[in-house]
Amino acid sequence: MMTWTPIIAKEQLTPDAGVCALVNGKQVAIFLDRKTDQLFAIDNYCPASKANVLSRGLITSVKDVLTVSSPLYKEHFSLITGECLENETLSVPVYAVRVTDGMVEVTA
Ligand code: FES
Repeated sequence: MMTWTPIIAKEQLTPDAGVCALVNGKQVAIFLDRKTDQLFAIDNYCPASKANVLSRGLITSVKDVLTVSSPLYKEHFSLITGECLENETLSVPVYAVRVTDGMVEVTA
């Protein structure tokens, strides 16, 4: 069974910028896309820079794929699949995210 962990009120999120939360011992980066009002959750750990930094990345569209651009080396990771657009050997885990009574909840 999936366990949903409440993280933050959706209204407290800044669109197109991430927040980081600890969920079951994992750092998760959560993003709210301004254009579609959609939420995304991916691992905060960047496999390229080997640092917990992806929540500080910005949402950008690359060839119609919604991505977070990592703050250090500028790789782009798909918010849908977690794949790195520049390096197919890299990817990050993607987590389920939803809103319940205004609270953003994540499973990880
Ligand atoms: S923080 Fe990962 S490539 Fe940049």
